[in-house]
Amino acid sequence: ESRDSDDPSASVGATHRRTSKLAIVGAGAVGSTMAYAALMRGAARNVALFDINKAKVEAEALDLGHGIQFMSMAEVVGSDDIAVCADADVVVFTAGAKQKPGQTRVDLAEATIGLVKKVLPSLVEVAPNAVYVMVTNPVDVVTYASLKISGLPPSQMFGSGTVLDSSRLRYLIAKHTGVAVQNVHAYIAGEHGDSGLPLWSSASIGAIPLLEWQGIEGEGPLTHSVRDEIAREVVESAYRIIEGKGATNYAVALAGSRIIEAIIKDERRVLPVSSLLTDFYGISDVCLSVPTIVGSSGVLDRLPVPMSVDELSGLRASAQAVRDVARRFGF
Ligand code: LAC
Repeated sequence: ESRDSDDPSASVGATHRRTSKLAIVGAGAVGSTMAYAALMRGAARNVALFDINKAKVEAEALDLGHGIQFMSMAEVVGSDDIAVCADADVVVFTAGAKQKPGQTRVDLAEATIGLVKKVLPSLVEVAPNAVYVMVTNPVDVVTYASLKISGLPPSQMFGSGTVLDSSRLRYLIAKHTGVAVQNVHAYIAGEHGDSGLPLWSSASIGAIPLLEWQGIEGEGPLTHSVRDEIAREVVESAYRIIEGKGATNYAVALAGSRIIEAIIKDERRVLPVSSLLTDFYGISDVCLSVPTIVGSSGVLDRLPVPMSVDELSGLRASAQAVRDVARRFGF
């Protein structure tokens, strides 16, 4: 619809407009794979890639453009000029140092925060109304710092958080139970990283609470030790993949594309994204992931998901871990 149409049905709201624009900052493994995933899913009509490496970003955009015949109609551009992000509906920030084998996400904090300080102000200048999705690690600290640096309202800027961790958790539960991952509902809450925790008490398989699950061919319940093993495997996933191929990119890009669609199509989808908590079970002034409704204006609401005493104390510990890192870097 045109923006100046007097047709009331042509609401300029956040429906998937012909002019929906996604800007991705960083054309590395995560950013370029995210652009590919978003295009394959028809998430945005216009995709702009920004990177300081001109040759790389132009090549990524060209390579993606050559595939448009096989996808939904879209325009793809790439540039080392930040103006390429102008007037985006969604800006996804993936630029930053790559986590090396043996490194933790927190080890990247200083470099990433330095980069955000440099790039974010001019980004917000060219795309003041975009919903910002921070992906670069340590994403919870980076999101908190970016809110302070940009001055944007907490609904308009959040992090990809544990959308990826939750998909890993669901993948592992599905493998253990033999049920399709789409019918496994479970969340990792807290930090995208070592202190994130599975919310077992609210997880379900089909319509059955996971803690009451007895298996489909009589395998019996998911025992405490199996659940602990799954939780450990979720935390270790990224380290294991980075060890093997040098980076993770597919699942994080698909998680990002899911978030992008929820914003551009105003889906009001429940996603465990990392946003600034204020009195969430008494937790405030920290960016953490809890199940959250995501739509065209960004974070609409956080769900007061029921938690066991252990889960709540785990969330509080995760909040403290993230807060300690933020304080170390002056936020
Ligand atoms: C991972 C990176 C994106 O967990 O933190 O794969």
